[in-house]
Amino acid sequence: MRYLTAGESHGPQLTTIIEGLPAGVPLTEEDINTELARRQKGYGRGRRMQIEKDAVQIMGGIRHGYTLGSPVALVVENKDWTHWTKIMGQAPLDSEASEDVKRKITRARPGHADLNGALKYGHRDMRNVLERSSARETTVRVAAGAAAKKLLSLLGIEIACHVLEIGGVQAEKLPYTSLAELKEKTEASPVRCFDSNAEQKMMDAIDQAKKNGDSIGGIVEVIVEGMPAGVGSYVHYDRKLDSKLAGAMVSINAFKGVEFGIGFEAARKPGSEVHDEIGWDPEKGYYRKSNRLGGFEGGMTTGMPIVVRGVMKPIPTLYKPLQSVDIETKEAFAASIERSDSCAVPAAAVVAESVIAWELAAAIVDQFSADRLDSLQMAIDEQRRYAREF
Ligand SMILES: Cc1cc2nc3c(=O)[nH]c(=O)nc-3n(C[C@H](O)[C@H](O)[C@H](O)COP(=O)(O)O)c2cc1C
Repeated sequence: MRYLTAGESHGPQLTTIIEGLPAGVPLTEEDINTELARRQKGYGRGRRMQIEKDAVQIMGGIRHGYTLGSPVALVVENKDWTHWTKIMGQAPLDSEASEDVKRKITRARPGHADLNGALKYGHRDMRNVLERSSARETTVRVAAGAAAKKLLSLLGIEIACHVLEIGGVQAEKLPYTSLAELKEKTEASPVRCFDSNAEQKMMDAIDQAKKNGDSIGGIVEVIVEGMPAGVGSYVHYDRKLDSKLAGAMVSINAFKGVEFGIGFEAARKPGSEVHDEIGWDPEKGYYRKSNRLGGFEGGMTTGMPIVVRGVMKPIPTLYKPLQSVDIETKEAFAASIERSDSCAVPAAAVVAESVIAWELAAAIVDQFSADRLDSLQMAIDEQRRYAREF
């Protein structure tokens, strides 16, 4: 399975084309819009999230509510586009048009793709870079992830995300009885946090950052239950599924690190406190007595819940200006802001959930017979039975 996204932040629309979804998967615009709305929520988001209520249009690959097996094309319009038709228009500018029309940007913003992207493609107007490097693109990654999540749920695989840390405020790792409980509680939280004590402190930290003209980052966690054991590979470095999840996580704008299970803590503990002992039970087959490795051994799923965390840096556009250089004049200036969120960690958790869902669905489609949903369901059931009785 693969997908490609296209579109600029203030262009007419964002588009994704998904290839490889099995035929027969029920998928509606509503399924996708629910996920898009989750991405738009979150304490600390700026004005744009209120301007734009994202809505998907299915443009191909689905008929009467079911995937056809052909590429699925999804489009999300930028409602703001009407105000940007001149600045972001596709047609060549006529020679009389003033330079003003382009809203040219020559001042590189620290922490953004601006300068490196301008160098790479030779853009003297860095708007050509920032329009695409903007996290607006994650909208259609969430749309593609919604399709992946739908497929996973039909295979008995559930996925959830939550926020563990914002601006140094850490949530306590409270136990939850089921993913359903985790989802219900975090969905109602303005910062997508399970620990209600930390929730208020996180919101205070966001307010404080905003007041200081600053921004803050955090840590999100994605949990997946129901993955069959043995998905991924130990024989090919590029098919190790944990490495794919790590790559997907760090592909999210502003994500700088990833860990599984106890993660970096493993460096500080002896092996006896890191590795998970193996047990066998006639009902559930092989299992691990703990899940410190977060669902992976040897690049393959163990059948235990997958637990993966990502670190998001503070978003780089600040009201408090940072020093930079104008590429036209080479003069120093203090990078100022158009408009920006002060914290996007709760929204980024939804993006993380989406990209992880995508990689898991893609790995399953890769490994099992998957032209049709029913044959895929049979293959996964068979894999579960085989692993139980092995
Ligand atoms: C959901 C989400 C929303 C974001 N919103 C903003 C924003 O409002 N302002 C900003 O400067 N960066 C924002 N970012 C981060 C930038 O897009 C990102 O830092 C930038 O493209 C540079 O990429 P890098 O940080 O991965 O190197 C956001 C990221 C995510 C995931």
